[in-house]
Amino acid sequence: MRTTVGIIGGGPSGLLLSILLDRLGIDNQVLEHRSRAHVQRRVRAGQLDHASVAFLRQAGLAGRLDRLGLPQRGMNLRWRGQTRRIDLEALSGGHSCMVYGQSALTCDLTNALAASGRSPVYGAEDIRLSDPESEPHVITYRKDGAEHRLECRFVAGCDGAHGPARRLVNGAGGGSSKRLPFSWVGVLSETPPVSPELTYAYHPRGFALWSMRSDTVSRTYLQCGADDQAEDWSDDRFWSEMQRRLGPDVTFSPGKVTERLMVRMQGYVADRMQLGNVVLAGDAGHTVPPSAAKGLNLAIADIRELSESFRRLLFEGRQEALAEYAQKALKRAWAGQAFSWQMTDLLHAPPSGDPFESNLKLTRLDSLLASPGQLSLFCRDYTGAEAA
Ligand code: FAD
Ligand code: DHB
Repeated sequence: MRTTVGIIGGGPSGLLLSILLDRLGIDNQVLEHRSRAHVQRRVRAGQLDHASVAFLRQAGLAGRLDRLGLPQRGMNLRWRGQTRRIDLEALSGGHSCMVYGQSALTCDLTNALAASGRSPVYGAEDIRLSDPESEPHVITYRKDGAEHRLECRFVAGCDGAHGPARRLVNGAGGGSSKRLPFSWVGVLSETPPVSPELTYAYHPRGFALWSMRSDTVSRTYLQCGADDQAEDWSDDRFWSEMQRRLGPDVTFSPGKVTERLMVRMQGYVADRMQLGNVVLAGDAGHTVPPSAAKGLNLAIADIRELSESFRRLLFEGRQEALAEYAQKALKRAWAGQAFSWQMTDLLHAPPSGDPFESNLKLTRLDSLLASPGQLSLFCRDYTGAEAA
């Protein structure tokens, strides 16, 4: 098999890139090591920023998103047993977000790709990449017991945090990373949301987040011990801890839990997102702690620019197009990282439970929330158009 761009990974980044390249008339092939059902079942992200929604609309990929997504014009912040609504729409000059599950978006992208007669190769095991400088680039993989070979001019590494592309471009251990001393336990359940907008809570016992997928399904997270396991969090323990952290005036009746996951909190930014004919995009190039819901949004911004860079390279002969993409993507990744760490630091309790540190955090929240001028700190368009 031969193609122009070999795309490793059929998550949101890889699927979106394939659709956009296809529309530009650039031949490509997605290779995904999991099954289609597995990829579509992954729950993960829920919040899409204004810029992501605008881009998906412009690309004609937001039909179902506009019908089923839940617009978010603000967020609720709870601390010391009180709630403050932050009007993000007013703070950002009219921008709002949308809650729409990553699994729904993945289905939409897969369907859009199928409508153009393309399909990822699912179950492509043991993918091996050749030297980044080699031309053509040769990707080998195994499917249904047979060896396959894909020759391509370029490779787009859209294979997330654990795929081979990150390592190929940055070397083993390359890039900067940091792990936080706590994790999240997340639950998807048949419970109506406590509010139509997301609720983020700071409590000396830890952070809590109440998000949703529909009027009847909630997605909820709690800060927990760094090495906690899913079995440590029975449904009873989860809901009673949620109640304690939100406070008695937030009422809910927990419904059936349909998924439980542990999220290790860490950040990573690659040293470089391009080497020779290989480029990285999305989580392959950077991962952020999920507290600020930025990862998928950064990935969508990467893909929007990467597809445009391929167009300039292949149709206008701009040789530096991929290097320029990589530089901008790294800058955006650090801006996203800074925003995510700021939110994480502000809203998570010290794992030691140290009352001195906890009181410092509460006092910081008091003063932030008392000064309208400082509320733009929560603004999701943190660096304006450049990061969008
Ligand atoms: P991935 O989704 O990781 O996709 C990579 C794909 O590559 C996968 O399909 C994988 O199977 C495949 N792959 C991996 N290795 C190989 C291999 N060797 N060979 C072939 N294929 C391979 N972001 C937001 O913007 N908003 C949110 O609200 C939000 N909430 C989140 C909540 C949680 C709990 C978590 C964990 C993340 C959240 N994120 C959020 C982040 C978001 O989910 C990721 O940033 C997003 O999935 C990145 O997409 P991607 O396609 O780049 O990578
Ligand atoms: C969701 C996840 C997040 O990490 C976040 O900050 C907000 C919402 C979600 O799954 O809905």
